[in-house]
Amino acid sequence: MTSLLKRAEVDSEFISEILHYSDLGSTNSVAKRMVLKEKKQGFIVISKTQTSGYGQRGNFWESPSGGLWCSIAINPKINPKKIGLIPILSALCVVKALKSYNVTTRLKWPNDILNSADNKKLGGILVEGKVSPGFIEYLIIGIGINVNNSLKQFSLPLRKRVTSILEISKNDISLIDLLNKITFYLEDGLFIMIRGEERQILSEWKEWDNVLGRNVKITSNNIEYEGIARDLTEFGQIILELADGREITFSSGTLTLI
Ligand code: BTN
Repeated sequence: MTSLLKRAEVDSEFISEILHYSDLGSTNSVAKRMVLKEKKQGFIVISKTQTSGYGQRGNFWESPSGGLWCSIAINPKINPKKIGLIPILSALCVVKALKSYNVTTRLKWPNDILNSADNKKLGGILVEGKVSPGFIEYLIIGIGINVNNSLKQFSLPLRKRVTSILEISKNDISLIDLLNKITFYLEDGLFIMIRGEERQILSEWKEWDNVLGRNVKITSNNIEYEGIARDLTEFGQIILELADGREITFSSGTLTLI
């Protein structure tokens, strides 16, 4: 059942309200509807479970209770050309927040958060937004993290590929504490972007990166490219060096380590 449990205030320049639900289809869809139809901005939608959560390329995102399933709707005054850095920044914020629980993770471009010990997926980021010439109309940062979840809560095929904080650390953690830590780092990162100091975000991201310098396959528009992941651009794109030495830049795609 969909019910709004409570509204809470938050202390943030970009976010003024957290809306807690017990069960939703997708927090991203609800946040998008509130932005587009109700013209709201600066809020977080969080739900205990989602029945139709989705990830990259519209893939179904399993969202059993115990995970952090939330969407942050903000409209920061950043250069719209740099919108591709938002998934990079958001994933970095998650990784930094998780570090404070002694959970060590790695980042797989563009949006995967992996457990460093076994490369299993702990979470992912789905940024949706609209850019008009010169400004960002809206930005929704969807964050999904397997937190206080046992593997039994996930479907059999997924159990082989994912893990959770509970599986790693054997401890339950507070979802709201985790969300607060993420929004703290996000606020910091948005100010860095507003000041035009994105290089700092890219260099921090590289400290956690699991991909650069490695052989990878990138699937984009149903075409597979193989090569060495060389670097990230200032816009958050990845640069792939093909076997013949040519370099291709990708803004999105599925990356596999080979
Ligand atoms: C991915 O790795 O493909 C990104 C997954 C993003 C999932 C989150 S869960 C909260 C928010 N609501 C959604 O429907 N999706 C995002």
